[in-house]
Amino acid sequence: MTTDLAAAPARTPLAANPARPRTFSGIQPSGVVHLGNDLGAIRNYVALARKYEAIYCIVDYHALTSTHEPDVLRQRTREMAAGLLALGLDPDVCTLFVQSHRPEHTELGWLLCTVTPVSWLERTPTYKEKVQQQPDDVNHGLLTYPVLQAADIVIYKATLVPVGRDQAAHLELSREIVRAFNRRYGATFPEPQAVYTEAPTVLGTDGAKKMSKSVGNTIDILGEPDLIRRQVMSMVTDTLRIKRTDPGRPEVCNVCQLHRFFGDDWAEIQDGERTARTGCVDTKKLLAERIVSHYAAARERYADLMAHPSEVDGILEAGADRLAPVAAATLAEVKEKMGLR
Ligand code: AMP
Ligand code: TRP
Repeated sequence: MTTDLAAAPARTPLAANPARPRTFSGIQPSGVVHLGNDLGAIRNYVALARKYEAIYCIVDYHALTSTHEPDVLRQRTREMAAGLLALGLDPDVCTLFVQSHRPEHTELGWLLCTVTPVSWLERTPTYKEKVQQQPDDVNHGLLTYPVLQAADIVIYKATLVPVGRDQAAHLELSREIVRAFNRRYGATFPEPQAVYTEAPTVLGTDGAKKMSKSVGNTIDILGEPDLIRRQVMSMVTDTLRIKRTDPGRPEVCNVCQLHRFFGDDWAEIQDGERTARTGCVDTKKLLAERIVSHYAAARERYADLMAHPSEVDGILEAGADRLAPVAAATLAEVKEKMGLR
């Protein structure tokens, strides 16, 4: 499913209208909000919040599977919150909170573990990738990761989940876990559905792999303008375009593809590249300036929020408090159905 950006009705309090469709997504406190996060997911967080009861979560429990320095995790959690707020999440319109502030997620996670065959988790592509990436730290959290992700979503009975394409397997697993639970204990959870943007996979500056902090191929949209310029200028373009006069192939050039999201002259940009009227360096310079100016206001808001950490912390606390009755109600229903009370 992709989004429609129609204007939305005003928000109603979460507890007062449990029937309103909910959207939920989680994001790891990875320290950097990159262009892939925004084009692939965060834009949809903002768009869906206008229409649905939107809940967004900074998943620090998930981050513990790879980040083990307490101060780093704390700092990154605040940075991610400030980044999301700066990029347009309005705490008056949606709920933003930190996963570990709502302990019901892990409790439901355990309960869902008991309906999840280990074989489903062992065959999860992201688990296999992590085993390669951190062979000395194949902790149990990595294996159980998708069960906690399912719990995050279904504790609020959310039906729509804005994510990038890299989360497709996790979402499918969430649906399977829901089906397994509903089969054993009766209809309880709706099956969540992924919602993609028009850029479900943004390639990194290497033009080959998905943009990702762990690969080191990001464009850090809230970073200093000179950093953004350096990152964009380092981008790999059409590798067959050797000389300035060689015609380019806009369909394989990542720089050209990204222009689509910054300006209304995409057809012209593609034509310039195809006919060699413009060179790669010009196209990159233009993209860098457009990204810098597109995110200028967000960068300012981000700096302001980071200078007022108690404001950010207050928003996160209020978000977690607001969700408490919903999380408690789902957990009570589930425990009742499972014979725990
Ligand atoms: P993460 O930083 O891995 O927690 O990702 C946060 C959100 O951004 C998730 O919904 C991801 O699917 C999405 N995302 C991350 N990297 C990319 C990318 N390169 N292209 C599109 N979406 C992405
Ligand atoms: N696994 C997601 C990622 O790495 C983060 C996540 C955790 C999530 N819980 C979620 C995403 C629930 C959507 C819904 O990006």
